[in-house]
Amino acid sequence: MQAPNILSAEFDKSPYQLFENIRENYPLFFHEATNSYVVSRYEDVERAFKDPAFSSRHAEAQFEPVYGRTMVQMDGREHATNRNLVIQALGSYKLNEKFLPLIEENARELLSKFSSRGEVELVEEFTSIYPLNVIRTILGLPKEDMPFLKKWCIDISNFLSNLSQNPQVTAAGLQSRKEFQAYLAPIIKRKQQNSEDDLLSSLCIAEIDGIKLTDDEITSLAMLLFGAGGETTDKALALMFRNLIVHREQLQQVIADRSLVERAFTETLRYSPPIQWLMRLTLEDVKMTGGTIPANSMVIGLIAAANRDPRKYSEPDNFNIFRHDLDVNRAFSGAANHLAFGGGKHFCIGTKLAREEVIIATNLLLNSMENMQFNDKLPEEYGFFARGLKNLHIKFTPV
Ligand code: HEM
Repeated sequence: MQAPNILSAEFDKSPYQLFENIRENYPLFFHEATNSYVVSRYEDVERAFKDPAFSSRHAEAQFEPVYGRTMVQMDGREHATNRNLVIQALGSYKLNEKFLPLIEENARELLSKFSSRGEVELVEEFTSIYPLNVIRTILGLPKEDMPFLKKWCIDISNFLSNLSQNPQVTAAGLQSRKEFQAYLAPIIKRKQQNSEDDLLSSLCIAEIDGIKLTDDEITSLAMLLFGAGGETTDKALALMFRNLIVHREQLQQVIADRSLVERAFTETLRYSPPIQWLMRLTLEDVKMTGGTIPANSMVIGLIAAANRDPRKYSEPDNFNIFRHDLDVNRAFSGAANHLAFGGGKHFCIGTKLAREEVIIATNLLLNSMENMQFNDKLPEEYGFFARGLKNLHIKFTPV
């Protein structure tokens, strides 16, 4: 017997039963197509993210061609300095006072285009635009630039998911990176000379121990923020609506008590994480459940399998926003007891922004769309690394 192929068509269609087989019967195996060891139990995946024996240097090959050198591929002091500069810049602008109203305005504007129509394809008309728009707004880039920003982000995302190495996809990703860089260069120069009240300006002036980011680093970071904060939140939001519409009684409870939106979002991240796996590189031999991973090996930590490990969660395959074994109060911090935002030193830095975005959008959508139902059959998921919905056709009663 062999472990299921995590890149097969069968897997793409329906990975969760296969994850169960992997987690129970093949807690550690070597996957030839990706040249990686695969771990899937919660305690092993968490360890791969938190133990310094696992490096993020693997990401040089994966991310650097399109983003340039960014924190995702750094370790140790270099990573800490770079990450802290961004956290400082993120913390220095006023999310609550200045940006929450703009985020709400973005959501309202998109919603107004379909709210009286009684039906919508939510991915195309809302989720695939809204989080990118939020990043654009926060960085301080003009609204009219959105169409080409979106195109560049799609090309770069396709490049990162191009496991079959399709040459056209590779070329489009690299070309979009070039155009994105050329677009940002004069804007960064301008903001360095005349600082404005936005994140890009904050990144231009942020410094730790006298170290400032170079122009190239600022450009790479801006592109990374679009990549890291766009597609992830897009997929999470659509998956949450899918999960709630399937579980109607929980949808009714969320409609009646909006403090439950945060629970619905957290349970969605556990049950259907938009990033299904992360990779690492071992710096030494590491003993895991099922054997030893040799030094210098690539490792895949299957987040989506770990998030349904019965050793961690009761009835893990049930979507239940009231579950007691998932702590909403720490779900968006480094102490989270799910792995959808990774863990350890590279734990996602956009969790609070993602939470605010999702809460704002969900409340507005629920206020305007009663009796939500799928317009046709159950929406299909797709994707190995990033996983979401191809589309989400909903019919509803306009309010
Ligand atoms: C539901 C939404 C989101 C999900 C599921 C998500 C998921 C993740 C995951 C799994 C990682 C860990 C990567 C690793 O360890 O290699 C990560 C890191 C990161 N995320 Fe998010 N993310 C989300 C939203 C955001 C947003 C809105 C931003 C924008 C501010 C963002 C910015 C980042 C950055 C910059 C990193 C790299 C951190 C580091 O390497 O130290 N993310 N995210």
